Amino acid sequence: MTSRISLTRYLVEQQRHHGLIPSQLRLLIEVVARACKRISISVNKGALGDILGTAQTENVQGEVQKKLDIIANEVLIEANEWGGHLAAMASEEMEGIYVVPNRFPQGEYLLMFDPLDGSSNIDVNVSIGTIFSVLKKADNGEGVSETDFLQPGTQQVAAGYCVYGPQTTLVLTVGHGVAMFTLDREQGSWVLTQDEVTIPADTKEFAINMSNTRHWAPPVKHYIDECLAGKEGPRGKDFNMRWVASMVADVHRILTRGGIFMYPWDKREPEKPGKLRLMYEANPMSFLIEQAGGASTNGKQRIMDIVPKKLHERVSVVLGSKNEVERVTSYHLEENN
Ligand code: AHG
Ligand code: MN
Ligand code: MN
Repeated sequence: MTSRISLTRYLVEQQRHHGLIPSQLRLLIEVVARACKRISISVNKGALGDILGTAQTENVQGEVQKKLDIIANEVLIEANEWGGHLAAMASEEMEGIYVVPNRFPQGEYLLMFDPLDGSSNIDVNVSIGTIFSVLKKADNGEGVSETDFLQPGTQQVAAGYCVYGPQTTLVLTVGHGVAMFTLDREQGSWVLTQDEVTIPADTKEFAINMSNTRHWAPPVKHYIDECLAGKEGPRGKDFNMRWVASMVADVHRILTRGGIFMYPWDKREPEKPGKLRLMYEANPMSFLIEQAGGASTNGKQRIMDIVPKKLHERVSVVLGSKNEVERVTSYHLEENN
């Protein structure tokens, strides 16, 4: 019988071979994974667990919160506040940072999360997820503040997501490739089911919300028009389209079989760089995609090089198969010249 590799063993071996996971970071990742297990159980209960529908609240970005947005946020905070591994947390669902309370020891890591990604899919029983990103607090002898979080994505020490779909899968990078773990519900454990995930450089599949076509900038329209022209067009091949409207599910498909995902700037709200959030969505997904050999830009520059100015900053996102991302980026750069 081939032995199953658990998440714990994977983390221990990563530390042994690459020295990337000190024990506090291992604890952090295991705690996040345990919280995801709890969220997965709630998701599976659905209507039986009273988790469907809308709460009577709005988040800092003015979006109506779903019950599960709030539940998932609470689960992640409760799971992570007492372990001594964190200095503070930040979430898409909270206005300010959550500093670890005084009654617990403070660690050196900063955790950011989108507790529930794909909220519009909760009630319709379509894949949703949790996205997370880990930074280290600068060792400046000062108490933790929002400024500590404003580091570019290149500073991430770990990132990942959990997708609650037909299977519950945890996808992780600690800066040495991407690994996927499937939740074994009978055993309650995460089992390594794919290591060294790689994304093909070329693809014939794109993901974008086509209902926004009329609002796009010319370079995005140019790229999609060429895809839609198919075999007879300049690309000389037919393209397929997918749009789940849960970034976790769209990115999971790209990590599994390649593709390109875009949520670009559009002219409905010109002052807004994009819909997706840099710290909770774009940075962790970019780290995973790059670690799997793909690329990720905002159309003009590498997303992980952006120095955030604020916690809830938004960004335009183009990520996935390298050659396609480079093509979209070159169309944007040509437009600027
Ligand atoms: P969230 O549920 O965390 O607000 O994120 C939803 C995001 C992302 O997951 C998805 O790609 C996108 O919003 C879908 O947007 P549209 O509904 O505009 O297609
Ligand atoms: Mn999201
Ligand atoms: Mn969310």
